[in-house]
Amino acid sequence: MGNTVYVQKCQTCHGPEGQGMKTPDSPEYQYPLLWGKNSYNDGAGLYRVSNFARYVKANMPLGASHRKPQLTDDEAWDLDAYVNSMPRPKKDIRKDWPDISKKHFDHPFGPYKDGYSEHKFHTDHWRAFANVLPADRHTVGKAYTKNIEGVNTCLRSRKRRLARKKTCFSKKKEYHLAALNIMFTYRNKQKK
Ligand code: HEC
Repeated sequence: MGNTVYVQKCQTCHGPEGQGMKTPDSPEYQYPLLWGKNSYNDGAGLYRVSNFARYVKANMPLGASHRKPQLTDDEAWDLDAYVNSMPRPKKDIRKDWPDISKKHFDHPFGPYKDGYSEHKFHTDHWRAFANVLPADRHTVGKAYTKNIEGVNTCLRSRKRRLARKKTCFSKKKEYHLAALNIMFTYRNKQKK
């Protein structure tokens, strides 16, 4: 997916090998390189999934802006997966967070504050998972999925309040919006 969009919308400037393009007769890059040994390293801001997607959607292809984006959200995420999975210099920044609770979840490498590993899969018993996931990295059971299910159940019951006219139903749109606002603010605060 990301590859197709890249070829269509990015390659003319950033090159088929992500090598960028130098200004004629100058060591400066007119179009920066996006991967390879001289590109930004894996400690850079752009290596973070949401930073890359946000930047690219608001700025690329050249001429796009925050108000007039030229990519859909899906294209921006796909481009992130494509470009950031390419080889680039490594920088060991695992020790950059003496306090692990300050580390954002969109760094595509561990350790994370919840102790889960980015190399492991935790699912329920559905057979399809076992068919595609490598057995040595796959754990089946509620122990690891109950947190996710807890969040989903909470969101589902909140959502129901918008439609079900008997329980806790507000007639005014403003009240609905305020209730949602409070719920999201509360949840986001909890996560930090
Ligand atoms: C018309 C030429 C052009 C096209 C097409 C283009 N870019 Fe760029 N891109 C640039 C230029 C010029 C810069 C440097 C901008 C700056 O420094 O402000 C840049 C910067 C970037 C950067 C930041 C690189 C860094 O190291 O800071 C990324 C990431 C990027 N482009 C991704 C993309 C993606 C993904 C696409 C396809 C959707 C794309 N670009 C299409 C010209 C282009």
